Amino acid sequence: MRESIIRIREEIKAYNILDIESQEAFRLKFLSKKGIISNLFDQFKTVSPDEKRELGRELNQLKLLATEKYNSIKDNFSSFDKTSKQDDLTRPGYDLNLGSRHPISIIRSEIISIFEKIGFSVAEGPEIEDDDHVFTKLNFAPEHPARDMQDTFYIFRQSVEDSNPNDILLRTHTSSVQIRVMQSQKPPIRAIFPGRVFRNEAISARAHCIFHQVEGLYINEKVSFADLKQSLLFFAREMFGKNTDIRLRPSYFPFTEPSAEMDVRCRICEGKGCNICKHTGWLEILGCGMVHPNVLESCDIDSKKYTGFAFGMGIERLAMLKYQINDLRLYFENDIRFLKQFRSVL
Ligand code: PHE
Repeated sequence: MRESIIRIREEIKAYNILDIESQEAFRLKFLSKKGIISNLFDQFKTVSPDEKRELGRELNQLKLLATEKYNSIKDNFSSFDKTSKQDDLTRPGYDLNLGSRHPISIIRSEIISIFEKIGFSVAEGPEIEDDDHVFTKLNFAPEHPARDMQDTFYIFRQSVEDSNPNDILLRTHTSSVQIRVMQSQKPPIRAIFPGRVFRNEAISARAHCIFHQVEGLYINEKVSFADLKQSLLFFAREMFGKNTDIRLRPSYFPFTEPSAEMDVRCRICEGKGCNICKHTGWLEILGCGMVHPNVLESCDIDSKKYTGFAFGMGIERLAMLKYQINDLRLYFENDIRFLKQFRSVL
């Protein structure tokens, strides 16, 4: 064993480390777990007790010699050298991995830019609201089912039995922003309010506890239902194409009178009937109506002098129709394979 140690010591001393490859070869040969020195330590276990002391010392010195030699040149080959040896610097660079916009953001921007063309400005209100702005001032009856704990997320509720205008909750629709804007601005008011809303729903392909709406409000003297219809027709044609037909069906909301729901002709089957439109040829896209006089009065707007219209639409739903997405949950899962399909300049 002594001869091996002497021979290896000479070998280590003579080893010429020139570059990163020979440096690594040196490490593998002498210092790695399966290297020569480690091997000698294994053999050392079998030497006779009277030789152990002397050989142990020599073996340790050998290891030290190799380690010091390795460490002394370890940093000689810097990363710069590494790059210049391994990489071709004239090669074109890597592509920048650009992100894409979320489909909800794309449709939101699209809705905003359409209404901006006809003079609507953009406003926002808080997601955490009080009952007064979400329900009471919007003419909801005290026992209206929307005020139920089953439908609404309450943060603070004075009494479990009855609702109270001071209760704190997550807004269930962006109509609350109508109230905020009417309280702080004088007519004429012409604005849209995009935002997130929350409802106490079990999550499925068709329902989610969080979604997005865009609300619209126009208050002025002599605003009529014809103005509402014309504005919405303009919107539908900008959004879904020039020849898009719309229809208004009578409906009910506490804060509008009369109220309607608007359908657009199904783009997928062109009105012939298909799975998407449930064979009706029409797709519902929003709720709307003339602002109820009680709502105007609750915000100190003279309902004899002013009238107005309001509408509200779900962004997820519009995006579903536009991109033919059939499961709401996809919007919230952040699966990159889903998200990277959407590209937009908006
Ligand atoms: N807030 C209603 C909803 O969430 C939509 C709506 C807005 C209806 C404005 C009429 C007027 O369903």
